Amino acid sequence: MKFIQKPYVIIGSGIAGLYTAIKLSEKTDKEILLITKSDLRESNSRYAQGGIVGVLPENTEDSVELHVRDTVKAGAGLTDAGVARFISEKSAGSIMDLISYGVEFDKHADQKVELTLEGAHSVNRILHAGGDATGRSIELALSNRVENNPKIHIYRKTQAVDLLVDSENNCKGVIVFNKTRGEYETVFSSAVIIATGGAGQVYSRTTNPQIATGDGIALAYRAGATIQNMEFVQFHPTALDFEEKGSRFLISESVRGEGAVLKTPDRKQFAFKYHEKGDLAPRDVVTRAIFFEMREQGFDNVILDTSVIPEEKLRIRFPNIMKVCEEHGIDITKGNIPVSPAAHYIMGGIKTTVKGETSLQGLYAVGEASCTSFHGANRLASNSLLECVVVANELAQFLSEKQTEISALSSDCQIGCLISLYEKNKFEYKRDIQTLKNTLRETMWEKAGIVRNKDGLNRALQTLNDLKLDFNQPYKCRDPEEYEFRSLLIISELIIRSALMRKESRGGHFRSDFPKASPEADNSYISRDSAFIAGNCCDRF
Ligand code: FAD
Ligand code: SIN
Repeated sequence: MKFIQKPYVIIGSGIAGLYTAIKLSEKTDKEILLITKSDLRESNSRYAQGGIVGVLPENTEDSVELHVRDTVKAGAGLTDAGVARFISEKSAGSIMDLISYGVEFDKHADQKVELTLEGAHSVNRILHAGGDATGRSIELALSNRVENNPKIHIYRKTQAVDLLVDSENNCKGVIVFNKTRGEYETVFSSAVIIATGGAGQVYSRTTNPQIATGDGIALAYRAGATIQNMEFVQFHPTALDFEEKGSRFLISESVRGEGAVLKTPDRKQFAFKYHEKGDLAPRDVVTRAIFFEMREQGFDNVILDTSVIPEEKLRIRFPNIMKVCEEHGIDITKGNIPVSPAAHYIMGGIKTTVKGETSLQGLYAVGEASCTSFHGANRLASNSLLECVVVANELAQFLSEKQTEISALSSDCQIGCLISLYEKNKFEYKRDIQTLKNTLRETMWEKAGIVRNKDGLNRALQTLNDLKLDFNQPYKCRDPEEYEFRSLLIISELIIRSALMRKESRGGHFRSDFPKASPEADNSYISRDSAFIAGNCCDRF
């Protein structure tokens, strides 16, 4: 095992990780190591379509108050209004920053920025780029900057596999696996920043790419950090009803924002039966409306009718959606896009402040892997990218003002024991991970998905326990796929246990056996018992 020291280690190269790296490099002279398990530009961020919220001073219809009100309402009692205000107030500045980094948001002919509408927003306040390629535009601008920054050192195709936590519960670094060289390395650091994104791959139907296996949340949980609100998963109403490489292409909510309507395959509108805002009701409401229509009427999908949007507008606003639909033989100018819900975003994650501080010293989290209480029980569309950039900036500022002290702590008993587990080869037999993964993802979709109940959740827990027995690889794994499966098992357990604990329905969490919200709204927390056995801390492992 190779050992190195770096003042800052950022895990993940989505918008949260890239933005943190850039901001840190502007605020300090210290070296930054950015680790990413795939290509630099592969992330959930890259696929973001609808856009990013900006409460802009020139938008006279909008205000911080209105954005906070919409965010809090969507959050169904669990959004922290103070956090929402803090992030909303910083949104205009963050947009200006992104523009200065080279992001070109779409503009009208008079050069005013275009603002679109998505579900549960009171006014048009969403900026977009490249029509429906906002994530790709931002990710490209930020990654180009990171690649040309001498202070930022990049480890590509390198997977974080465990966090180093000392006997006093301080995070001191991370063990990583270089997939190209097949080598492990221990990085000691004064600040480990998790920016590993979401966990959509835990479900068999998801808009998230294959990298979204919840690794960072799983690592933080293993390390003893507090994890919040894992029962709150957002299922997007409209994923294209085809699967490719384990994921479903998203048909952005902004398509409905521009006028498209949902219909049953026999061409009946239904969304207004479920909510006064109809097709633009909060995401969880539209998702359940589609789920119930499909289940009660036996449809495999519903239809998004885009024919009401003028062809020219479709071409300019949704070039990417048009292209992908064409590849599947669908002409969106005629309407008729087959869509169904899919797991999209996790509101829960590593509990943090708006500066990215977790419950462990030395460990920080930002972006979808974190839970700042901004999204509450249900995230408002396009608030995620905003949270990524605002919190990344706050975190960089906080860290730049903090003393950095790195100590090579392999002498700490607990850290030494953990490292030694990654130095030995102790494998039983090669498992068929793809089959285990399919069983897990299908079980999660069926039993811990859009509509849950006690029986189903308990059955999911049973399947999970069987899979855990079969897999039984808590530390060093044979290959990256096994590490991802280890993460998926942990995330599934966190979701199921949190969903069992919450005996009510709220936001993204719906229990058919407790269909109403209980009067008291509260967050849920889970953490692993981090106590180790005094005298021989290796007993912990
Ligand atoms: P990600 O962008 O997911 O990046 C995570 C990074 O961590 C990746 O580089 C990954 O390779 C790396 N990583 C993961 N595990 C490890 C590990 N163990 N070791 C090393 N590296 C690791 N939100 C909006 O606000 N507006 C939108 O329009 C929008 N549209 C969306 C459309 C789609 C199809 C999807 C899937 C999501 C969308 N979202 C949108 C949500 C939003 O894109 C994400 O929440 C956000 O981009 C998350 O950014 P992130 O930087 O936290 O994580
Ligand atoms: C979308 O474009 O529908 C996704 C937006 C989001 O998830 O915020």
